[in-house]
Amino acid sequence: MLRRNMSPKFISEIIFLHLLFLITIFYGSRARELAGTESKLLDIAVNKTATNEHQTEHKHHAHNHNHMDPSVMVFFTLKDLKVGKRMQINFPKRNPSTSPKFWPRDKADSLPFSLNKLPTLLKIFSLSQDSPQAKAMVDTLTECESKPIKGEVKFCATSLESMLDFTQSILGIKNDLKVYATSHLTKSSVTFQNYTILEKIMRISAPKMVACHTMPYPYAVFYCHSQESENRIYRVSLVGDNGDMVEAMVVCHMDTSHWGHGHVSFQVLGVVPGSSNVCHFFPADNFIWVPKLEVQGVSDM
Ligand SMILES: *[C@@H]1O[C@H](CO)[C@@H](O)[C@H](O)[C@H]1NC(C)=O
Ligand SMILES: *[C@@H]1O[C@H](CO)[C@@H](O)[C@H](O)[C@H]1NC(C)=O
Repeated sequence: MLRRNMSPKFISEIIFLHLLFLITIFYGSRARELAGTESKLLDIAVNKTATNEHQTEHKHHAHNHNHMDPSVMVFFTLKDLKVGKRMQINFPKRNPSTSPKFWPRDKADSLPFSLNKLPTLLKIFSLSQDSPQAKAMVDTLTECESKPIKGEVKFCATSLESMLDFTQSILGIKNDLKVYATSHLTKSSVTFQNYTILEKIMRISAPKMVACHTMPYPYAVFYCHSQESENRIYRVSLVGDNGDMVEAMVVCHMDTSHWGHGHVSFQVLGVVPGSSNVCHFFPADNFIWVPKLEVQGVSDM
């Protein structure tokens, strides 16, 4: 079925587009934001780099993060979300050849997903205990089993179906879901550079949202969560110093009072919990799910 001249990347894009098409049909959402340039959305690497944003956003305790570590350069405050603002941003790129793929729910559910089953899991995936992949699995399972912070509901999705189930239950609707992700409009290998905000494309005004972050694992696993406190969602266009064009998703957490003092964003921004809102850019392989609603114009932002 697969023709020889098709690269694995091309094939994964076809599979992705097919999946997206099914979601779109099934959920009645046009998923317009995901068309075209989003075709690489699911190229998720089993790679610490690709998931640092998640970890830096969600670890509640101090981790001796080096301030110069580019992977934490995704945070800023709402006052800087303005046209013409230039800032250093890290957008990890996915590597199609090492990307874990979505498993069908039946297959994912047939395996345990728990830290105390690690020896079994390592055997199944033929990984040695000391391998970086095993270490990444430990980190992911630990993060997935950790308690949510106050006002947070979280769930690690091991399949697209379970991600949608969780999202539907949190948003309280079955149909008319909309999913957003950051799109890279140009191809380049630069991941860390200065970007200038060209335009605030829209503010997505949603009473509730579910954000899903990729986690390193042998197959596609997403840490999905929803917070009670006020969040603002924006889509902005950015231009990199090298000319790269990105349409990026931004979430601003307006209330950070329940976040731990050690949260890396506080270290990066030099603020304390509750003293400031915290915004962050989303890498391209993360999803933001919202009820399909009217999108506000620029004047409302
Ligand atoms: C994975 O990590 C390697 C270095 O460890 C890096 O060169 C590569 O760009 C990373 N890939 C992704 C998709 O982050
Ligand atoms: C971004 O620009 C500043 C000042 O122009 C510069 O000092 C810094 O090194 C740049 N960052 C990157 C990642 O190029």
